[in-house]
Amino acid sequence: MDTMKKPVRVAVTGPAGQIGYSLLFRIASGAMLGADQPVELRLLERAESASSARLTGTMMELEDCAFPLLEGLSAFRDPVEAFRDADYALLVGARPRAPGMERADLLEANARIFVEQGRALNASASRDVKVLVVGNPCNTNAMIAMKNAPELAARNFSALMRLDQNRAEAQLAKKLGCRVADIDRVAVWGNHSPTMAADVSFATVKGEPVAGKLDAAWLHDEFEPVVAKRGGAILAARGASSAASAASAAIDHMRDWALGSGERWLTMAVPSEGEYGVPEGMVFGFPCRTEGGVARPVADLAISEALRARIERNVAELALEAEAVKAFLPKH
Ligand code: NAD
Ligand code: LMR
Repeated sequence: MDTMKKPVRVAVTGPAGQIGYSLLFRIASGAMLGADQPVELRLLERAESASSARLTGTMMELEDCAFPLLEGLSAFRDPVEAFRDADYALLVGARPRAPGMERADLLEANARIFVEQGRALNASASRDVKVLVVGNPCNTNAMIAMKNAPELAARNFSALMRLDQNRAEAQLAKKLGCRVADIDRVAVWGNHSPTMAADVSFATVKGEPVAGKLDAAWLHDEFEPVVAKRGGAILAARGASSAASAASAAIDHMRDWALGSGERWLTMAVPSEGEYGVPEGMVFGFPCRTEGGVARPVADLAISEALRARIERNVAELALEAEAVKAFLPKH
């Protein structure tokens, strides 16, 4: 074990939930940070008795896997303690939507969780912590956490839109009869809501542009709505919101952020620094590349008028969400 790296601390909230059950075992197995990176898991759950009991069972199973990389496993009720010196924080714990709800209907219910957790990260996490917000509505929740953590850099925070990218790539691969790995430069811009803009204007298959291989009617009438409404379709089919695919996308997001994307494009929702006219501080899905633990939107893309209009619809929607939660944002 001499070649092993020093363990890193990974905090996960909502570990007793359905995403937690798909996520923790993959983090502990090395799927997120690599086969040479030991991890210490720090789990934050609510005190409520059913969640506590499920968490106990999940921790017993984690132990029973005897993962060689799992060097620590502890449960907390206090976010300041759970996040102490955390290098990574996956904020999953929040209410999921029920049938008939949009993700935005969860705004009020979940906002206070992200105020408390933003403050706690500010108080005790590593100054380099990488935070991924999964709990919905994830863009606005990430913005709330970021604003409540003024001593951490804004770009330490992100929200999960990799699931939307993965969904888009899977649909495209099926249509084109190619492997998902052959596809690159698919982007999903904006908000993790039905307004999101799944975009293939820069996409390639085996390095060749896809433009010309797909008809406009399929893109407009099938691809874009299928990707945008996939969360609702899964909820209708399963009677519960997506879990294993969300956990898998969270693993992809963190792995590529930590270990680097190379030339590939990843969709991550990150706080805007004004890119593509998106107001500063808005947590927005962009095509990004990552290097040395830093994620940056791909620069200088020639955006069509049609895509610009879709980006603007997402900006308007996120501005309305921000207005609805302004009571949860620090005044200054
Ligand atoms: P779940 O109800 O199965 O689990 C949520 C867990 O979080 C529960 O164990 C609950 O006790 C815990 N929890 C609630 N409040 C907490 C708090 N303050 N601190 C710590 N733990 C807390 O839900 P799930 O299906 O695992 O989904 C979790 C969230 O992820 C939901 O908001 C859902 O909408 C969202 N989600 C996002 C995406 C995405 O792509 N961004 C995809 C799927 C689900
Ligand atoms: C999803 O996209 O599957 C999640 O955000 C869950 C949901 O409520 O749609």
